[in-house]
Amino acid sequence: RNALHAAVAGVSTLALAATSLGALAAQSVTVGHTTSDSSHYSEGIDAFAAKLEELSGGEFTVEEHPSGALGGERAMIEGLQIGTIDMVVTSTGPLGNFVPQTYVLDLPFLFEDYDQARCVLDGEIGQELLDQMGEHELVGLAWTENGFRHLTNSQRDVQTPEDAKGLKIRTMENEMHMAAFREMDVHPTPMAFPELFTALQQGTVDGQENPISVILTGNLWEVQDRLSLTGHVYSPAIMLASPIMWDGLSDEEKGWFREAARAGAEATRAMVSRLETEGVEELKEKGMTVVEDIDKSQFQEAVEPSYKVFTDEYGSEMLDRIRNSS
Ligand code: PAF
Repeated sequence: RNALHAAVAGVSTLALAATSLGALAAQSVTVGHTTSDSSHYSEGIDAFAAKLEELSGGEFTVEEHPSGALGGERAMIEGLQIGTIDMVVTSTGPLGNFVPQTYVLDLPFLFEDYDQARCVLDGEIGQELLDQMGEHELVGLAWTENGFRHLTNSQRDVQTPEDAKGLKIRTMENEMHMAAFREMDVHPTPMAFPELFTALQQGTVDGQENPISVILTGNLWEVQDRLSLTGHVYSPAIMLASPIMWDGLSDEEKGWFREAARAGAEATRAMVSRLETEGVEELKEKGMTVVEDIDKSQFQEAVEPSYKVFTDEYGSEMLDRIRNSS
C-alpha cells in the first residue's frame, strides 16, 4: 500500500509539475481598447484570442482590458511605444499624431461604402500603411474597423449642415475631423473617449459622432436623444502591437499573431455590418429620434474645403490612389 501511495503521489507531483510548467510557458498578451466589453472591438479580440490560442497550442493567452481601463487611445499608443502594453485596438482617430500618413484615411466622405473601405485597407494601400507603423515604433498587425460615423446631439434634429451650425461637438483628437467640423461652423471639442460620457451628461458638449456600435454598446443613447445618420466619415481601426513584445517573438509566432489579427478583424467587421441596421432599430427602441433622410451631398459640399488642410501638408498622391481604387 505504501508503494502504491508513493507511486500515486509521484504521478500527481509530475502532473502538477507539468501543469505549472505549462502555465509558466503560457505567455499572456495584454490587449487594451476603449470601447465596452460588448462592442465590435471586444468581439474581434475574442476571435483574435481564440485563433492565437489555437495556432500556438496555448503558448499565448490574451488578457483583454476594455472600456479605457488602460487609458484613452492616444495614451495607449504611447504605451505600446514604451512597452507598457502589448497590443491595442484603436481607431485611426489619434493615430495621425504618430503616423501622419494615416491622416488620409480620416478625410470625410472619402469612402463611399464598407466594401470600398475594406477593399482599400486589405489591399496594397492598406499594407503600405501597416508597414509605415514600423517607422514610428509601432507594429501594424491588421486593419480592423470602427465604422461609418454618425452625429448625435441633445439639442435638435440635424438633417442639414445648417441645422448643425453652432453645436459644440466632441471630436476625436484628429486634425482632419476638426477641420471638417469647423467648415460646417460646428465647434469641435477634441477629447479622449473615456471622458465623453460625463461630458455629454454634464452638457459640456452638445453632441458627438461615432459609429452605431459605439453609440449602442457605449450607452451614449442614455445621454443623447437625437441621432442623424450622416455617415460623414469612415473610421478605420487597427490592431497594433508593441515593438518591444514583437521583437521577442520568433517568425513563426509573428505569423500566428498576424493570422489571428485578421480573424479578429473579420469578426469585428461582421458585427459592424450587422449593427449598421439592427443597431439603429435598437437605438430607436431605446428612445432615440433617428433622422434617416439625410442628403449627404450637402454635408459633403460643406466639408470639402477641409481637404486642403490635408493636401497642403501631405500632397494628393495617396488621396488620388484611394479615389481611383473604386
Ligand atoms: O470616438 C472615438 O474616440 C472612437 O471612435 C472610439 C469610440 C474610441 C473607438 O475607437
